[in-house]
Amino acid sequence: MITKPTIDKIMEATDIVEVIGDFVQLKKRGANYVGLSPFANERTPSFTVSPVKGIFKDFSSGKGGSAVTFLMELEKFTYPEALRWLAKKYGIEIEETVESPENREADNHRESLMIVTGYAAKFFHESLLDTDEGKNIGLSYFKERGFSKDTITKFELGYSPDQWEAFSAQAIKDGYQEQFIVESGLSVKRDNGTLYDRYRGRVMFPIHSFSGRVIAFGGRTLKSDKNVPKYVNSPESEIYHKSSVLYGLYFAKKAIREEDNCYLVEGYADVISVHQAGIENVVASSGTSLTVEQIRLMGRLTKNITILYDGDAAGIKASLRGLDLILEEGLNVKVVLFPDGHDPDSYVRKLGTSAFKKYIEDTKKDFILYKTDLLLKDAGNDPIKKAEVIREIVESVSKIPDSIKASVFIKECSYILQIDERALLSELNKMRAAKARKDSQQSSTYSKPEQAPDEINWDEPVDQKTKDDDSQEKEIIRLLLMYGNRMIDWDGIANTYIGPFMIAELSDVEFDHRVSKEFVEIYRKEVENGVLPDEQHFIHYPDKEIVDLTVTLIATKYTLSENWYEMHRILVPDEQVNMKATILGAIFHLKKQKVGNILENLRKELQTTTAEADQEILLSQYIHMKKVEKTISDYLGSVILK
Ligand code: CTP
Ligand code: MN
Repeated sequence: MITKPTIDKIMEATDIVEVIGDFVQLKKRGANYVGLSPFANERTPSFTVSPVKGIFKDFSSGKGGSAVTFLMELEKFTYPEALRWLAKKYGIEIEETVESPENREADNHRESLMIVTGYAAKFFHESLLDTDEGKNIGLSYFKERGFSKDTITKFELGYSPDQWEAFSAQAIKDGYQEQFIVESGLSVKRDNGTLYDRYRGRVMFPIHSFSGRVIAFGGRTLKSDKNVPKYVNSPESEIYHKSSVLYGLYFAKKAIREEDNCYLVEGYADVISVHQAGIENVVASSGTSLTVEQIRLMGRLTKNITILYDGDAAGIKASLRGLDLILEEGLNVKVVLFPDGHDPDSYVRKLGTSAFKKYIEDTKKDFILYKTDLLLKDAGNDPIKKAEVIREIVESVSKIPDSIKASVFIKECSYILQIDERALLSELNKMRAAKARKDSQQSSTYSKPEQAPDEINWDEPVDQKTKDDDSQEKEIIRLLLMYGNRMIDWDGIANTYIGPFMIAELSDVEFDHRVSKEFVEIYRKEVENGVLPDEQHFIHYPDKEIVDLTVTLIATKYTLSENWYEMHRILVPDEQVNMKATILGAIFHLKKQKVGNILENLRKELQTTTAEADQEILLSQYIHMKKVEKTISDYLGSVILK
């Protein structure tokens, strides 16, 4: 387990805007930052980060929390993984206490895979630099390709010895578990149970996660034998999902954000050469067609994608469909082609950085216009084929969410296609209408479960009455968060903080809502230990549900405060002017509701109970509770204005 002092150090160092900024483009708005939600597909930013509170709130998906919660949500990290990530980012050394073996095993499966993969990266890298075979074969190959020493180090390039068991034997000898060596795809198990290396006599390209850890490899053969596959890649594993990884993204993300553009190339070598030339905003789809996940990954950092492809049209055509996906995501796509026989790697080496950049600027073309050209060339003079081209182009245009942009494309395409603009527009409108129909059908089927009565959770029967209590309970928690560590300044009470006062006042109240109850329990325990827990305590609490509740209550308040409260002429300070009314009002409203619930239950019991003695007891309880209710009502009426 990571120790508390380490956690505190990490929390102190963490700048939530900086952390989230690694993943989301944020713009300053007032005291907060806003951006497009990385959890939902949205066009208007509803994702808010408050640097002062150290929290984010995503009004699209409802998610919210600290920098740690953000990493857990987005990168699917566990709590310790998120802490480790932050510690690495801020150069904080981690202090740990020993965990129980069971814990460690459950928690660390992914971590174990990453560790053995990281070990392998080091093994291959050292074998490239420190062994004769590596130097003679691997290193000289990279040198020949023009990769500098710095580049080789930065991308952790390596070499796998041309033997069956070089890596497997060393890994076992160094104490790595067979299970993880095999699961990560580094070695393959023979029928007789022994292991052999997946990569033999290949130069190795480690593939890094968004946060910079090695999660997989691509191994390129150096043989020209046609029967040997050119690349051998890591299989899918718990840490490597090919479809949501872009090669080079870790090294490119900063530049992508700064340049507000992402170059997309096909191969490992292209990424490395272009990056080495000083153009660092470059990633590769690694030869497969682009996936939506990969597109979104880029879309989080920039809306502008420039595709750099080899001259051969086959590759481009294969990816034309994928590109429609990019349009749908609202990204701007440009295409650059290279002269025959060249790819970005060879071309940047031929031209040098500035001429290469100039070539890109001069020849880049909007994807739709490019597609129109290409398809038109294919169709020649065949009228049927030409009609098909028109349909396909209009279909692409119909994917563009921005209708102004779409109409500009229609104009340009009408020129290229030599077709009346109105004909294209009418085709476009037809497609839009069809799409809208389809969307609305989909959304009506999807939204059904939401409209149906709430699902019943059998572990936790909740009837209508207690559900009403929810908001009242949450109001208590909101007040604890906002004002818990303020001094009480109203008559008759002194030298007491609002938090402990509320907790004491509520000692006879049972909270129904599970998370609220837990929250109050935590608060009570802290107070008993002589600590006054503040907002930050709950924002950084290890339990996600607690963090969620906290952030929702804080965030709603202060985002609402800007417009909602103003609009309704309810000034937030109002509740602070009469603190006594606010605090006692909340406490006694909740109590009144609880008493109301008890009375309701007693009434029901009275109706069903037939034994006279029981009835008598119930009745006296009922009368007693009625009196309590009256007292509370009177109190609320006399002391509290609302
Ligand atoms: N690729 C693959 N398996 C193959 C061929 C290609 O996984 N058999 C992927 C690799 O990610 C490769 C990319 O597709 O980087 C592009 O392929 P290619 O252009 O053939 O490879 P390069 O990386 O450009 O290699 P080189 O320049 O060394 O020929
Ligand atoms: Mn190449």
